[in-house]
Amino acid sequence: MAIRKIRIMGDDVLRKTSKEVKEMTPRLKTLVEDMFDTMYDAMGVGLAAPQVGILKRIVVIDTYEEGEKFALINPVITHKDGEQVGDEGCLSLPGKVATVKRPDHVICEAYDVNMEPITIEGHGLLARAICHELDHLDGVLYPDVAEEPVRNVTYEEEGE
Ligand code: NI
Repeated sequence: MAIRKIRIMGDDVLRKTSKEVKEMTPRLKTLVEDMFDTMYDAMGVGLAAPQVGILKRIVVIDTYEEGEKFALINPVITHKDGEQVGDEGCLSLPGKVATVKRPDHVICEAYDVNMEPITIEGHGLLARAICHELDHLDGVLYPDVAEEPVRNVTYEEEGE
């Protein structure tokens, strides 16, 4: 178990485009494990590799709902529909949130850590997390797509 340092907005690495994973290696498997450890340590629901300084198309997500824990390699959204409007945060912008409009339903094709193809379907929070984490792979942060300026999390919101 290793917790990696999460890069904070302002760090150039968060603005770069990540590269496809050509083959899984022990080093990348360790990265995936470390990304889960880092995400859980920070109490997040998702983390993308550039957030720990690695420009590879890898994200981890766990909504804490049954069957909604994934490591996604080279993920691509192949379908989206519907709309949800809600607050979104990011481990790279601690203590901040903003309202972001996202599709309410997405289908995502990716590879798992064994480079087997997988298709996942998400509604609600999972759909939001998939969109948010995939944006990171192209250097996009939620303030870029938010409906309003980023604001500080208030004490009441923190309890939610
Ligand atoms: Ni994020």
